Amino acid sequence: MDKKYKVLVTGGCGYIGSHTSIDLLEKDFEVVSADSLVRSKPFVADRVREISNKPFDNYAIDCRYEDELRTVFEAHPDIQGVIHFAAFKAVGESVEQPLMYYDNNINSLITVLKLSEEFGVKDFVFSSSCSVYGNADALPVREDTPFAEPESPYGRTKVISEQIIKEYSINSNMRFILLRYFNPVGSHTSGKLGEIPFGSPQNLVPVITETAIGKRKSLTVFGSDYDTRDGSCIRDYIHVMDIADAHTKALTYLKDENNEQQVEIFNLGTGNGVSVLEMINSFEHETGVKLNYTMGPRREGDVIAVYADNSRSKERLGWDCKYGVSDMMKSAWRWEQRMREEHI
Ligand code: NAD
Ligand code: WQD
Repeated sequence: MDKKYKVLVTGGCGYIGSHTSIDLLEKDFEVVSADSLVRSKPFVADRVREISNKPFDNYAIDCRYEDELRTVFEAHPDIQGVIHFAAFKAVGESVEQPLMYYDNNINSLITVLKLSEEFGVKDFVFSSSCSVYGNADALPVREDTPFAEPESPYGRTKVISEQIIKEYSINSNMRFILLRYFNPVGSHTSGKLGEIPFGSPQNLVPVITETAIGKRKSLTVFGSDYDTRDGSCIRDYIHVMDIADAHTKALTYLKDENNEQQVEIFNLGTGNGVSVLEMINSFEHETGVKLNYTMGPRREGDVIAVYADNSRSKERLGWDCKYGVSDMMKSAWRWEQRMREEHI
């Protein structure tokens, strides 16, 4: 029997890392995770094993530190690919604590790159973000749309990380894919896994489900006078299952040497812009739960509208979205209820 391709997933117990690990395991990759659990919970690894019915070990180490990460590579010298998710991601927190963001997001990338090269890794996939585009002039944004000024230190860590990878690649034997996610939402179709909020989440969908379940009294729509079809901001919300599938396809693309360049960049969005009010209406329609919301002032740093041109991902990776906004809302609501039942 052929030996399976082994992947190191950093941040494999996080929201996107856990969903991606399940997808990889279901498609017959071997997966090892390195997640310090600073923003996750130990039971997530159990859920990944349960859902996939495959072995999955998490090493609770901090990827910034070479000696800690080395233990993972020494235990698995046959790792062929790395998907690097481990990072902090809260925009507001990054404004309050920029050094913590630069330290974690940049230093973990540097250490993961160094050891990947040393241990002969071939394929490297990096979690980037639509935040690199800032307030783009033209929509939809394409991978070659010029970057505007990042709206936060978090966004800047992604711009810098992409730059580090491009510069590093010149003298590296690895091949790289940078995946720019738009707004990942929703939860696993099994109902057993989803996003576990750290502190008080500021992202729209967790705020919607927390309001619906009564953890919050109400929801404020940030801005009603934007130059959009209903005055609220527009985003490209994408189901986390579609994001996970794209990672497996990206890794397969590198593994099969289908890449034309050493560093390739792909947008992961549905291509559809949806407004905040449309999201609220969809939630109410899909779940039958009325949301207590009010129209409020604009949130500082918010981009008015952003959505992806995803044609490159479709053409080259052979990927497409399977899920729409109604699936995103139903699954997010199911997971919020499940967290209440299980006291998560
Ligand atoms: P998450 O916080 O759920 O997962 C990140 C995981 O990494 C956590 O489990 C955390 O414990 C771990 N981690 C953080 N720093 C670490 C370190 N130094 N060493 C080891 N483990 C560490 O976040 P997510 O939503 O799954 O995001 C994953 C990646 O995708 C991040 O790089 C994020 O910036 C990027 N991204 C996320 C979104 C989004 O909206 N969720 C959008 C675009 C890009
Ligand atoms: C979506 C829309 C808000 C909360 C962030 C990062 C981005 C990426 C995805 C990581 C906006 C509105 C929200 C609320 C609201 N993450 N909103 N009331 O800001 O598009 O993107 O997450 O890489 O980099 O910047 O996502 O979910 O916070 O907001 O009206 O209580 O919902 O104004 O229009 P955002 P979000």
